[in-house]
Amino acid sequence: MQNWKNVLEVALLVSVVVQAACKSTIEPCSNSDSCNALLGYTLYTDLKVSEVASLFQIDPIALLTANAVDISYPDVEHHILPSRLFLKIPISCSCVDGIRKSLATRYKTRPSDTLASIADSVYGGLVSSDQLREANSISDPSVLDVGQSLAIPLPCTCFNGTDNSLPAIYLSYVVRPVDSLAAIAARYFTTLTDLMNVNAMGTPAVNDGDILAVPIPACASNFPKSASDFGLLVPNGSYAITAGHCVQCSCGPRNLNLYCMPASLAVSCSSMQCRGSNLMLGNVTVQQTGGGCNVTSCNYDGIVNGTIVTTLSPSLQPRCPGPQEFPPLIAPPNTVAKDSVSAPAPSPEFDGAGPASPRSSLVPSTGLPGFSPANGPISGISSGASAACSLAKPLPFLTSTLVLLLVRLIIPVAL
Ligand SMILES: *[C@@H]1O[C@H](CO)[C@@H](O)[C@H](O)[C@H]1NC(C)=O
Ligand SMILES: *[C@@H]1O[C@H](CO)[C@@H](O)[C@H](O)[C@H]1NC(C)=O
Ligand SMILES: *[C@@H]1O[C@H](CO)[C@@H](O)[C@H](O)[C@H]1NC(C)=O
Ligand SMILES: *[C@@H]1O[C@H](CO)[C@@H](O)[C@H](O)[C@H]1NC(C)=O
Ligand SMILES: *[C@@H]1O[C@H](CO)[C@@H](O)[C@H](O)[C@H]1NC(C)=O
Repeated sequence: MQNWKNVLEVALLVSVVVQAACKSTIEPCSNSDSCNALLGYTLYTDLKVSEVASLFQIDPIALLTANAVDISYPDVEHHILPSRLFLKIPISCSCVDGIRKSLATRYKTRPSDTLASIADSVYGGLVSSDQLREANSISDPSVLDVGQSLAIPLPCTCFNGTDNSLPAIYLSYVVRPVDSLAAIAARYFTTLTDLMNVNAMGTPAVNDGDILAVPIPACASNFPKSASDFGLLVPNGSYAITAGHCVQCSCGPRNLNLYCMPASLAVSCSSMQCRGSNLMLGNVTVQQTGGGCNVTSCNYDGIVNGTIVTTLSPSLQPRCPGPQEFPPLIAPPNTVAKDSVSAPAPSPEFDGAGPASPRSSLVPSTGLPGFSPANGPISGISSGASAACSLAKPLPFLTSTLVLLLVRLIIPVAL
């Protein structure tokens, strides 16, 4: 019997290791405020812009502007995006049962779909098949009705819209086998320390399938609470479309001041002129005076009750600003650039092969999440915590291994 016990212990150990192999950063929350967030998504097949948008139930124009794709291309919503393209998906992150997540996405199952294929392929590892099973109370995952509408819980974080007290938006990033934390930090122009603090990590080791929160510097808005686009955050180097496609806001590249102007889409919009002036939204006049530069701008202040709010803001600045600069736009992609498929070469110091020590808080995805504060002295974020998620693929294997072992255990006893 001693041998069987050992085998069982090894099997249980393997199961624990696999459970811990896939982690995601979770943020506890207590209020109902939502925030802008991003999902890092890799296309599993060629998909039209509109198909990607409907997969996440978002506006195709918002998808394009979040990726700085020029929306003036003819028929851009029908453009076919290539398989393996990496996209940032703009979503709204809410607070559900005390945890930040998005529950706004639903998926209609198709023939030959399995929970694992939906989780790993269609949604690119942003959700696990266990999470799909739980969110939809599926007792028998082998029976999926075609056309069944599944809720897709998606990971996101807000962290108060700041990183080290500066405005930031968080990207939920699925770690791929080629990634190291150092390479991810380099790719998103941040430091290893910042990523470790945000994700409450004790070591820089990451595993394939982990979901990290990656802070991206952003331009913050200062709209009144009554605005329906209150809290708008636009990541550096991109655009956002708001006010029913009437207003387009950009962020960067030189400074992180939100700049909004009328969008060039043909829609009927309420007046975008600043009251008491002949300035339109986004217009800036400058006048050099003895005391400095008299700058007057017509700014966007959110959409309230369907009306575009504009504010004329005069200010005296030491120097006159140059012309407004915009983040460079790209043509709708047809091919996948090599560096968007494979991350920069991993640094030899942190190649992800270090000891797989757990993050501050590991919990199975089926249990209640445990929280522990991130204790990094540099980050202002104090609520980062990690939860284990189970990998979709190894589990059926493990389950059958365990069943096999149990059967083999029981038989000798019965004999
Ligand atoms: C949240 O962010 C705001 C600025 O956006 C800041 O004033 C406030 O102190 C932050 N709160 C926390 C708890 O970090
Ligand atoms: C914003 O992005 C530009 C490139 O698009 C980069 O040069 C700049 O450093 C970024 N700013 C910040 C604060 O990250
Ligand atoms: C004011 O803004 C409108 C709309 O963006 C633009 O067409 C116009 O050229 C701007 N005028 C000035 C003086 O900047
Ligand atoms: C600044 O310019 C605005 C409009 O161009 C004008 O009404 C205001 O009097 C000017 N202020 C100064 C101090 O020159
Ligand atoms: C918006 O409209 C509602 C009713 O139509 C009104 O009660 C509310 O005061 C309006 N809000 C603002 C900020 O104008």
